[in-house]
Parts: sequence; structure tokens; C-alpha cells
Amino acid sequence: MTDFSLAKYYAWFTALGLLVGGLVIAGYYRDDYREWKDYQRKYIKEEIHRAPTPQAKMLAERIPVEIRQAVLPDLHRVDRCTTCHLTVEDPSYGGYPQPLSYHPLHEQHPFERFGCTICHRGQGRATTAVDAHGSVPHWDEPMLPMQYIQASCGQCHEAADNPAAPELAQGEQVFENSGCRGCHKLGGTGGIIGPELDKVGARRSPEWLKKHFIAPASATPGSIMPPQKLSETNLEAIVLFMLSQTGESASGYYSSMKVLPNTREGLHLFRSRGCYGCHSVNGQGGKVGPPLDDVGLRRAPEWMIQHFRDPQSVTPGSVMPKFGFTESEARALTDFLIHMREQAVALSLPSLMSPVERGKEVFRKYGCAGCHGPDAKGGIPNPNSKTAEQVPGLLHVADGYTVVQLKARINLGQHEIPALDPKRPPPPLYMPAWSGTIKDAEVDDLVSYLISLKPKGEDVGF
Ligand code: HEC
Ligand code: HEC
Ligand code: HEC
Ligand code: HEC
Ligand code: HEC
Ligand code: HEC
Repeated sequence: MTDFSLAKYYAWFTALGLLVGGLVIAGYYRDDYREWKDYQRKYIKEEIHRAPTPQAKMLAERIPVEIRQAVLPDLHRVDRCTTCHLTVEDPSYGGYPQPLSYHPLHEQHPFERFGCTICHRGQGRATTAVDAHGSVPHWDEPMLPMQYIQASCGQCHEAADNPAAPELAQGEQVFENSGCRGCHKLGGTGGIIGPELDKVGARRSPEWLKKHFIAPASATPGSIMPPQKLSETNLEAIVLFMLSQTGESASGYYSSMKVLPNTREGLHLFRSRGCYGCHSVNGQGGKVGPPLDDVGLRRAPEWMIQHFRDPQSVTPGSVMPKFGFTESEARALTDFLIHMREQAVALSLPSLMSPVERGKEVFRKYGCAGCHGPDAKGGIPNPNSKTAEQVPGLLHVADGYTVVQLKARINLGQHEIPALDPKRPPPPLYMPAWSGTIKDAEVDDLVSYLISLKPKGEDVGF
């Protein structure tokens, strides 16, 4: 009797079993066919294709297919854009179709520190293009259209001082020249007929702003704001400037470059105007004035700027000369002195060098030239090695290696150097494994330097 009642469920069990199995398989394929995995496979394929040696090929084959992300606590973000935009830091991908292209400004804004959404907006955690680019409901920060991307620079740089953001500077000019402050407050100054504009960039879309400037009443019925008669470029510029007013500004390290090219210019002024004659840094220099190592802790920026304008106005009787600095020079010097405190290093601040300059230092510091020749030009004998019985120069590594491969090559070294003649003794010089000796950041700089060695006028081979 019991047998009989169980038997009538067999069909159900079978059906259920098939259903579960089907779901598992469907789930597997759904996971396997994620958009981003396609781009990663394409990338890996390209890397394998480019690999100059079997060893490099093996490394390329081992590149994992995985979500990549930058965790940015100070910017309150987690950006996964590089899950698809895999090659933003690899110059050899310049001009490659998106999302696998090299990114312009990356040297100044290393992506592991900046991520992407601080400039582009969009949805950092998303892993589909539609969601990430942010034109979806329930996400109020769609990606900035590329024509307005310079709106982002103002969060950390002074608009007027950033030569790389001319449209932002133009927008600010148009704003200041068009009498907008007559009716609007921005940064606390202005009239009260219209609303404050400090956060308008977070409230309004480019399309709305444009429409509103041309005919305010068409966007806000009954508006008394006068239509703005602006040329097309000025119109675009003021829209861009409005978009830059999000009420958000990054702090600390991120805003250390308010005035460009501040610190470098400040250092230059510091060296060229004889400050050392009276002041010391790191124990070196004169004793007429106080040491300046920690002056950023003692003095507020405003104080310093005023002091540079006229030392006696803040320190009556001061013997420090009135140098007659321009406003931006005074700011540059001030910024430099403040930067010094942060970095706690004296005047050869590595942070003031470009990655290439730093990389050259690393090359020097670890004696790479001992085997690869001065300036990596080669010429050091390595008897019986296949490479012309010399340790090869490194001028052309940009052709054979990607950044990732080059890093790996340096970190892993190569103990066995291929011999020309198996009967003769093996080549005496081998490539040491440098991981553990050279810090990761230094290897990055080293790689930038090696890549920069490629003689100009030759294009990068794919
Ligand atoms: C799932 C893969 C994927 C992710 C994740 C992704 N993108 Fe893209 N992105 C693409 C593809 C594909 C293109 C080129 C086609 C297009 O414009 O949609 C692209 C294009 C772009 C462009 C150029 C747009 C233009 O108008 O020329 C920008 C800028 C961009 N992405 C930024 C981002 C940012 C910022 C993030 C992270 C918030 C991100 N992407 C995340 C796949 C992705
Ligand atoms: C410091 C601000 C900044 C950061 C950070 C930044 N970008 Fe950009 N991005 C720009 C600017 C500016 C341009 C336009 C450059 C140009 O055209 O000269 C650009 C261009 C692009 C383009 C090309 C768009 C086109 O017109 O084809 C893509 C794609 C892109 N960025 C994606 C990213 C991704 C992905 C990240 C993060 C890994 C990122 N960006 C981080 C400022 C930034
Ligand atoms: C989140 C803050 C932030 C944003 C947004 C930002 N920058 Fe920067 N920028 C920095 C910082 C910090 C540095 C200095 C980096 C370093 O050297 O460590 C810098 C450096 C630079 C430099 C090099 C200055 C020099 O003299 O070395 C240029 C040029 C520059 N930024 C242009 C731009 C442009 C153009 C944009 C907008 C597309 C932009 N930045 C957006 C923070 C930012
Ligand atoms: C005579 C006074 C007046 C002048 C001059 C004026 N505005 Fe306005 N503006 C207003 C008023 C009133 C409103 C609110 C009604 C509306 O949305 O049009 C407004 C609204 C705006 C808004 C929308 C704000 C929001 O939060 O929705 C923006 C943006 C704006 N103005 C920008 C500007 C700019 C930029 C200029 C200079 C080129 C300017 N205005 C000049 C009176 C003025
Ligand atoms: C002829 C000597 C002399 C020269 C040259 C000189 N200073 Fe001074 N500086 C002084 C004296 C003395 C003081 C202390 C009195 C005062 O605050 O003015 C001082 C004060 C300062 C302070 C404030 C220090 C503190 O702790 O309060 C700063 C900052 C400073 N100098 C920067 C500079 C810079 C930057 C230069 C080069 C552009 C420079 N000084 C050139 C003599 C000099
Ligand atoms: C003790 C000698 C020695 C030192 C020191 C040395 N290398 Fe090498 N390196 C070699 C040899 C040998 C090779 C292998 C050449 C070959 O394949 O025949 C090599 C290969 C390389 C390659 C690959 C070159 C190519 O064309 O494929 C790179 C890149 C490289 N070294 C970078 C460096 C860097 C960067 C440093 C300093 C941190 C350094 N090396 C220090 C001996 C050395």
C-alpha cells in the first residue's frame, strides 16, 4: 500500500529534478556570459597575441577573468569601471576601441587613487555598461557627457589656474562677466533674486541648463531671469561651469593641487629667489629666518600669502624682503610650503617628479645600468648569451611588453639565460628577481621610465 502511494510521486520527483538541473545550467551560462567577461577575454586574447616570447605568452594566459576595482575610502567610492576599461594605464593601447583604450590624464591621476567616477560620475559599483554609465532610473549621477568632462576638475583644482581645463576657466569668465551675481549667490557672494547656485550642477541636467539659458521661462514657467544672449561656445562654457557647481569638493591630498602648476612652481621660486640664504629646510640653509620644515603647521595659508605680499604687514619690523610676488606666485610658494609638511621630505620631493623621472632614479638606485648599460643602452658583455653575447639594452622594451608583463619580468627575473653554444659555459650574467627588493610603486615608476625610452617617432607595434 505504501509502495503504491509513493509511486504516484515519482513523476513529480523527476520533474522537480529536471527543473533544478535546468536552473543550475541556466545560472551557469548566465554567469558565464556577462558582458564584462567578454571584454576581459578579448583583452587576454590581445595580450596573448602580442606576447613576444613563450614566457610572456604563458603570463598572458594566466591573467585571471575577474572583477577589478579601486576602493577609495577618502572619496567614499568603490569603482569597478576597470573591470571593462582594462587598459586605461597601458599606453600601448592608445587609440584602441573602447572599452580597451589607454586613458590620457592618468599619470597625474593614478587610478588606484582616483578611480573614475570622481571625474566621470556614473555608478562605480556596477558591472554592466548601461548601469555603470548611469543612465538608469534610481541613479541620480549619470555619467557626464564627454563634452562637459572638464566640469569635474573644479572639485580639486582652481578653475582659472588649470591649463588642462580651459573650458572650465572660460565658463567661470562668462559667469563673472555676465552679471549673474546680480541675482545669484555663488560661494556666498551675490544677490538673492534667483536661487543660490552652489549645488545647481547636482540638480540640473545639461539639456535643462541649456534650454533655460536660452529661454528661462520655457524651463521655469514665469521665470523672470533674462534670456542670455551668448555665443554657442560661451553657452556651452557656462553650462559646463554650472555643472561643475555640485557643492562637493575633495579634501586633503586630493585638493592639494588647487593652484596649478603650484608646487612645482613654488619649488622653483623657492630655489631661484634665494630663500635658502635666510631659511633652512632639513637642516640646510641660512639661520636669519626660522627653519621652514614645519611652517605649514605654524601658519595658515592666508597668513603666508599676506606675509609674501608684505612681510612687515604681519610681522612688524621683519627683515624679510618684500619680493613683489604676483598673487599666483605667492599662492604657489604657499602651496609648496604646505606640501612640504605633508610629504615630510626635503627638497628633492619625489612627488614633484614625474613617474618617468622617478623611474630613472630607481634605475640608478638599484644599479640596473651595471648590466644593461648607462641609460639602458646596452653594451655590457655576457659571453655566450644568445643576445649578441651582451646583456641587451632596454630601449625597445615598449615594443615587446605590456606594462603588466614588464612588471612581471622585472619582479620575476630570469636565472637561466639562453646560451649561444651549449658546449661553452652558460652566460655568467643573469637577471635577478627584484620582487621583495624593489617596492611595488618603484617598479611602476621603473616601468614608466623604461617605456619612455622608446626612441621618438617610432610607433608602438601591436
Ligand atoms: C560592462 C563593461 C563596462 C563597464 C563596467 C564600464 N564601461 Fe565604460 N564603456 C564600455 C563600453 C563597451 C564603451 C564603448 C561603447 C559605449 O560608449 O557605450 C564604454 C565607453 C565609456 C566612455 C566613453 C563614452 C563616450 O561618450 O565616448 C566613458 C567615458 C566610460 N565608458 C566611462 C566609464 C566609467 C566611468 C565606468 C565606471 C563607472 C565605466 N565606463 C564602466 C564598457 C563598460
Ligand atoms: C582626473 C579626471 C579623470 C579620471 C580620474 C578619469 N577620467 Fe576618463 N577622462 C577624463 C577626461 C578629461 C577625458 C577626455 C580626455 C581627452 O579627450 O583629452 C577622459 C576620457 C575618457 C574616455 C574616453 C572617452 C572618449 O571620448 O572616447 C574613457 C573611456 C574614460 N575617460 C574612462 C575612464 C575610466 C574607466 C576611468 C577610471 C579608470 C577614468 N576615465 C578616470 C577625465 C578623467
Ligand atoms: C579628486 C581631485 C581631482 C580631480 C577631480 C582632478 N584632479 Fe587634477 N590633480 C589632482 C591632484 C591631487 C594632482 C596632483 C597629483 C600628484 O602629483 O600626486 C593633480 C594633478 C593634475 C595635473 C598635473 C599638475 C602638475 O603640474 O603636475 C593636471 C594637469 C591636472 N591635475 C589636470 C586635471 C584636469 C584637467 C582635471 C579634470 C578633467 C582634473 N585634474 C581633475 C586632483 C584632481
Ligand atoms: C535679473 C536676475 C537674474 C539674472 C541676471 C540671472 N538670473 Fe538666473 N535665475 C533668476 C531667477 C529669478 C531664477 C529662478 C527661476 C528660474 O528657474 O528661471 C533663476 C534661475 C537660474 C538657474 C536655475 C537654478 C535652479 O536651481 O534651478 C540657473 C542655473 C541660473 N539662474 C543661472 C544664471 C546664470 C549663470 C546667470 C548669468 C549668466 C543668471 N542666472 C542670471 C534670476 C536671474
Ligand atoms: C633676508 C633674509 C630672508 C630672506 C631672503 C627670506 N626670508 Fe623669510 N623670513 C625672514 C625672517 C627674518 C623671518 C621672520 C620674521 C617674519 O616673520 O617676517 C622670515 C619669515 C618667513 C616665514 C614665516 C615663518 C614662520 O615660521 O613664521 C616664511 C613662510 C618665510 N619667511 C618664507 C620665505 C620664503 C619662501 C623666502 C624666499 C622667497 C624667504 N622667506 C626669504 C628672512 C628672510
Ligand atoms: C646582474 C645583471 C643584471 C642586472 C643588475 C639587471 N639585469 Fe635585467 N637582465 C639581465 C639579463 C642577463 C637579462 C636577460 C637577457 C636575455 O634574455 O638574454 C635581463 C633582462 C631584462 C629585461 C628583459 C629585456 C628584454 O629585452 O626582454 C628587462 C626589462 C630587465 N632586464 C630590466 C632590468 C631592470 C629594470 C633592472 C634593475 C632593477 C635590471 N634589469 C637589472 C641582467 C641584469
